[in-house]
Amino acid sequence: MTTGRAPTLGVLASGTGTVLSAIIEAGLPVAAVVVDRPCHAVEMAEKAGVPAVEIVGRDTFGPDFDRVAYTHRVVEALARHRIDVVAMAGFGTVLADPIFERYPGRVLNTHPALLPAFKGWHAVRDALAAGVKVTGTTVHVATVEVDDGPILAQEAVTVVPGDTEDSLHERIKSVERRLYPETIRAFLHSVHLLEGGA
Ligand code: GRF
Repeated sequence: MTTGRAPTLGVLASGTGTVLSAIIEAGLPVAAVVVDRPCHAVEMAEKAGVPAVEIVGRDTFGPDFDRVAYTHRVVEALARHRIDVVAMAGFGTVLADPIFERYPGRVLNTHPALLPAFKGWHAVRDALAAGVKVTGTTVHVATVEVDDGPILAQEAVTVVPGDTEDSLHERIKSVERRLYPETIRAFLHSVHLLEGGA
């Protein structure tokens, strides 16, 4: 870990990268972006001038996927860029123990529901199907259990009549794009203080 220097942030993304974009625009110290497939997040990060952008591709999306070996490759990529704190921003691969061992309590995630409700890949769809009137977003410390771990911040989003998965997700993401950077900033600050920084 760091010794007094400000902690660096690594972001893991897979998708359109709008949450990643918000993190960068908030001025957070993104030292590396790692993606698991070619995706829009790569161009976005490159355009924004992120110092390192790496595609750590999966050999397979099938049942023979070696999650532990893949996680080691992601950890190696982060380590190459001296990353101290990791933020998942729509990363499409569930990671295994090695990242949580290398970054204990220092992997963050944003989830488009009010955890512990609606864990999993289809949180928005599941919330709509359940007929809830209010859902939202959760920023939490990630653990090896998917969508688990200590909650750092939550904000509610109202479901409106006629909402589709896309319309609701977009309203949730507009909250995530504010709440996640704010929460990461506070988290980085507390890590810095913990490490003896001023
Ligand atoms: C966000 O809703 C995040 O909570 C989920 O994936 C989405 C990422 O959005 N895990 P984008 O690809 O950054 O637009």
